[in-house]
Amino acid sequence: MQRFTSSAVRRALRSSSYASRTSTYARRWLTVSTVVRAASLDPMTGERQGLPDINPALLEIIRTDKPKPPPPSSSLVFGHTFTDHMLTIPWNAISGWGKPTVKPYGPLQLEPSSTVLHYAQSVFEGLKAYRDDNGHVTLFRPDMNMKRMNTSAHRIALPTFNGEAAVELLKELVRLDKRWIPQEPGYSLYLRPALIGTQTSIGVGPPNEALFFVICSPVGPYYPDGFKPVALYGTTEFTRAYPGGTGAYKLGANYAPGVLPQKMAAKKGYVQNLWLYGPEHYVTEVGTMNLMVVFEKPDGTIELVTPPLDGMILPGVTRDSVLALARSHASGTKSISGLPEKFSVDERQVSMKEIKAAAKAGKLVELFGTGTAAVISPVNKIGYLGEDIHIPSDEDGMGPVSRAIWTELTGIQRGTIPSEWCVRVC
Ligand SMILES: Cc1ncc(COP(=O)(O)O)c(C=O)c1O
Repeated sequence: MQRFTSSAVRRALRSSSYASRTSTYARRWLTVSTVVRAASLDPMTGERQGLPDINPALLEIIRTDKPKPPPPSSSLVFGHTFTDHMLTIPWNAISGWGKPTVKPYGPLQLEPSSTVLHYAQSVFEGLKAYRDDNGHVTLFRPDMNMKRMNTSAHRIALPTFNGEAAVELLKELVRLDKRWIPQEPGYSLYLRPALIGTQTSIGVGPPNEALFFVICSPVGPYYPDGFKPVALYGTTEFTRAYPGGTGAYKLGANYAPGVLPQKMAAKKGYVQNLWLYGPEHYVTEVGTMNLMVVFEKPDGTIELVTPPLDGMILPGVTRDSVLALARSHASGTKSISGLPEKFSVDERQVSMKEIKAAAKAGKLVELFGTGTAAVISPVNKIGYLGEDIHIPSDEDGMGPVSRAIWTELTGIQRGTIPSEWCVRVC
């Protein structure tokens, strides 16, 4: 990760009577010139080191003069409505991260030669701001999203950045657009940070220009009328990820190839793809969610299992949160109401053969997806090699483990259960 000599720049800005009298332009010039002097070249790669990182102190806010009225919450369709403002931060290989700007939501100016349009130099994130039951606005584990965004950026040679500084800017954006967070329970503001390569030349290589931007979209609960378990298509014709590939990173390039398989699954009557890997048909992920399976072991222990982070699985923030809560219950550190006493948590491979055998023996307790959008998404059926495997679910659509964990997790997000995972915005 690039480290920013921000204190040197800030000292220079503070002590310069010139800078204190002058415009943003002059301040930027001073920042860039100071840093260009401070930057050095990596002897191995020839890349500049020590360039400025994202600096919230340089933020400029340009408010819209045409604020829109937020639509009625009940009319919201996921990802279709955007707030009044967005955040942009440019980067280039000579001067590093530039001035963050919050400005009216609107089109980006990109030349047709921009590398993102040709070589999918694009990473993105998804996280939510909640209006909690105490009237505060919070972000749920934003540090995890910024960490993952940096890992993703590094994987495709986009610039990395200081995640804490980025979180400060996310908070500024949310504060400005907080009237867009619906009041109704279960609603939230979905934040979509993205980072794209904007070098204007055709040729595959690390871009010398990039743009970080964040847009916000008010969203409703994924299941407004109660949980509806979904049917999955155990996909053997396509592979989402493979060893040494990019499945563990949130790259734009990972998602377009999933659309055709999803259409084909829908045509067969299934809602999402259950992505399988290898001749053993190990389960990996479901659609754009992580996967959890619950078995009953011969001694009656209830086992929550998810595939390990072996490079093919996206390290979901919800996955991590579910595992942390489940582990705290299993270890006796924190009892979670509704979870069984004899309870264990494992990260291990699970094959379709194991799922099929457990279902047949009545030992498959439940199966669900986890992700920011839905939090938990129960599954009631897997179509696999021409037959349907049925998965139990209770009348409310959930199972015993998912219900207990969903209740705990959404309690944390709503602020009724205190947790350091919720970062106060205002
Ligand atoms: C492929 C994939 N797996 C899992 C997830 C769940 O991750 P998270 O819990 O961070 O939303 C997502 C969504 O970001 C995803 O796109």
